[in-house]
Parts: sequence; structure tokens; C-alpha cells
Amino acid sequence: MENLKVIPIHIGVIMDGNGRWAEKRNLPRIFGHKEGIEAVRRTVKAAVKYNIKYLTLYSFSTENWKRPKEEVEFLFYLMEENLKNEGEELNKNNIKVRFLGRKWELPVNLIKIMDYVENLTKENTGLNLIFAINYGGRVEIVDAVKKIIKLGYKEEEIDETLIKKFLYLPDVPEPDLIIRTSGEKRISNFLLWQSAYSEFYFTSVLWPDFDENEFLKALVDYQKRKRKFGGI
Ligand code: IPE
Ligand code: IPE
Ligand code: MG
Repeated sequence: MENLKVIPIHIGVIMDGNGRWAEKRNLPRIFGHKEGIEAVRRTVKAAVKYNIKYLTLYSFSTENWKRPKEEVEFLFYLMEENLKNEGEELNKNNIKVRFLGRKWELPVNLIKIMDYVENLTKENTGLNLIFAINYGGRVEIVDAVKKIIKLGYKEEEIDETLIKKFLYLPDVPEPDLIIRTSGEKRISNFLLWQSAYSEFYFTSVLWPDFDENEFLKALVDYQKRKRKFGGI
């Protein structure tokens, strides 16, 4: 095994390239999403193996509603089926599953299964596996500001600590490393507040081809980073 001295506590992944993976094979885009699930499985396994404490997987953005209705529905169907089928297995592996985003806008059947898996795994102490579904970094900040105003906070009480407290999952540490597949080099509204000092790793591998070896490459690259947080 590689000599890994610094292991990130929290890794975020922008799982991109499903559509292109399918198009390359002359298949409809949904085949890419289906294959992407296998990459999710491999990544969760790798995260457990390398002792990552938090893994956040960007699964559906608030902008992804712009896609054709059939594709959106298929993505929700895939999430529902897989959470239903994998809930017990995740639980057996001591994985705590959580969700990040505007859950209340999702289809009721999906919400039900999300609540079920979250509840089933809530006492687990292993990997914190967070699925960002209907998540947008900007709207997360908007939602935080709304809550703060509703609760009547005064101007002098507003600071970074307070805003952070009203984000969706305030107890989750900021991501140390954000991986994006498919060759795009942008954040696409993922964890805007939390990524202020994250390290980024971009790979041209399409998400359905992502595996333990690619995950390890990102970890190895992370070893070379010198995090300064504004200091010297
Ligand atoms: C990522 O793959 C999956 C989601 C955004 C849900 P894409 O569907 O964005 O794949 P490309 O970018 O079109 O290849
Ligand atoms: C980001 O991928 C969202 C997810 C991975 C869920 P997109 O494919 O939606 O991002 P853009 O549109 O290329 O920026
Ligand atoms: Mg994409």
C-alpha cells in the first residue's frame, strides 16, 4: 500500500461524466447514470478502506432540474432503488448515511426511502456517507440567511460562525479535498461556503470509470499539497 501520511478527513466528489460515458458508446445517457452507481459502490468501499471519515457525493444539483424530465425521473428512480437495496448493507458496514440539500422538494417516495436509510444508520460510527441531492451551494446560503432573519438575529450578532451554524449540516467538517471527474474544472455550485480552503483534484476519467486506483491517485496527489489557510 502507498505511503499515505496525510489522510483527508472529508472528501467531496463531483461525480461528472455519466452522459459522455454513455454517448461514447452510442447509448442513451441513462446508461451512464446506471453505470455511475457502480463507481459510487467502488468509491464508498475505497473511502472505508482508506479510513476517510466523511465522503460527500454530489448526486443532483439544484440546476439539474433543467434536464429533460425523463432523465431527472430516472436519476430519482436510481437513487430510490439503490438506497432501498443497499440500506441494510450500508448499515452492516457501520456507515452513517446522511443527505444534503433541499430534500423537501424531492418526490415523496424518494424522501421516504431517504428518511428510512438515514434513520436506520443514524447510530453508526464508521464512514459518514453524505449524498448531496437537490443541493446548491448558493441556495444553502440563502436558506441559512432566511433562518437567521426568522429567528430575529441582530446585525452585530451576524458573523461567520453564526452563518455556518445555519447551513444544512453544520456539524460536518469542511472538505479537505474535492475531486471532480470528467475533465471539467469548475465547482458547479457544490459546497461553496465549505470549500473556501479545500484542495481540488481534477481528473479526465469519466465518473463511470472511476475506481479505487483513481481514488488512490487523488490521495497520493493530496500528499504533496501544502495547506496554508492564508498563513505563510
Ligand atoms: C453527472 O454526469 C451526473 C449528474 C450530474 C447527475 P452528467 O450527466 O453530468 O454527465 P455529462 O457531464 O453529461 O457527461
Ligand atoms: C455537477 O455536474 C452536478 C453533479 C455532479 C450532481 P453538472 O454536469 O451538472 O455540472 P455542469 O453543468 O457541467 O457545470
Ligand atoms: Mg455533467
